[in-house]
Amino acid sequence: MSIIERDKHSGHTTTGHEWDGIKELNTPVPKLVILCLIGAFLFSIGYWYLMPSWPLVDRFLPGKLGIDERAALTDEIARAEVLKKDLWTDKLESTDFGDIVYDDQLMAKVQTSGARLFEDNCAMCHGRNGIGNLNYPSLADEVWLWGDDPEFVAETLRVGINSEHAKTRVAMMPAFGSMGVLDKESIKDVIAFVRDNARLPLSLEANTLEAGTKTRLKAGAEIYKTVCAACHGQDLKGNQAIGAPNLTDRHWIYGNQTAQMIESVWSGRQGHMPSWESRLAPYQRKILALYVTTLDN
Ligand code: HEC
Ligand code: HEC
Repeated sequence: MSIIERDKHSGHTTTGHEWDGIKELNTPVPKLVILCLIGAFLFSIGYWYLMPSWPLVDRFLPGKLGIDERAALTDEIARAEVLKKDLWTDKLESTDFGDIVYDDQLMAKVQTSGARLFEDNCAMCHGRNGIGNLNYPSLADEVWLWGDDPEFVAETLRVGINSEHAKTRVAMMPAFGSMGVLDKESIKDVIAFVRDNARLPLSLEANTLEAGTKTRLKAGAEIYKTVCAACHGQDLKGNQAIGAPNLTDRHWIYGNQTAQMIESVWSGRQGHMPSWESRLAPYQRKILALYVTTLDN
């Protein structure tokens, strides 16, 4: 049985351990300190579980709350970018086409973001910088099927041409040959007439058109007047209201070879341009309309 002894200097009891006459005082760690230690330990486990903690090779364990300050910062920067962007696109949306073209600051933004939008959405058909491809008209020249009014172009982008959209613009070159309206010879006649007017050589490809005989040109003129003029105009200059191309301007969507032109009349042409209503926001279509109508400037 150990004897409880009290140290007379400090007033503490002793533990009963003694070395060379030195007695160990019974002074346990205060309860409060133990509680604090336990509390801190539990808190750190909880914190470790909830917050990013354990270092991995290139990041930390995300923790239950998934807090990521780097991502939060990136978000913040992105939000600020959007806000900045909204300032000029808001202005773009609320300003008329006619006024935008005189606003140099706004037009500078239109040029840079227009180029990017065009590259992403349009260049695969209309070519780099809108220079066009066979079957796809150039947008970088001064020739327009439908006119160069940016407001009208924006509407074309919304509804498309021969597209699925309910309000699509319709460009319809009928298939006069395969529908049986004109036979092969009549088509050659009218193409000879068109090429003559467009100052294209009549015998570009051997034997396709025997060098412009007077009778062919005369017959062609007659056919043109009765069959083609309604859409392409008496002067062959086209009609922008229905997207009928000018046949004298040396710009040919489907090529200027005799065989290609005969094919246009034999099988018809309906160029397909998708509607961008569901794919691009109104302000993006506005940017693109301004971008393509100023490409040739
Ligand atoms: C899938 C191919 C395709 C894509 C992609 C395309 N287009 Fe077109 N686009 C056409 C075709 C084909 C025509 C000519 C339709 C016709 O023959 O009447 C056309 C016509 C146009 C016209 C009318 C040209 C004129 O002379 O009046 C404009 C403007 C135009 N496209 C702009 C754009 C813009 C801007 C984009 C990108 C958002 C775009 N296109 C994407 C195929 C495409
Ligand atoms: C109903 C209206 C209409 C009539 C009639 C019509 N065309 Fe067209 N033609 C068009 C349209 C619209 C286009 C453009 C089609 C497209 O690109 O989608 C076109 C395109 C063409 C092209 C291709 C032009 C190019 O840039 O490559 C030629 C060539 C042509 N027409 C010749 C004729 C001739 C010749 C006749 C008479 C035999 C004729 N067309 C009658 C509407 C018409």
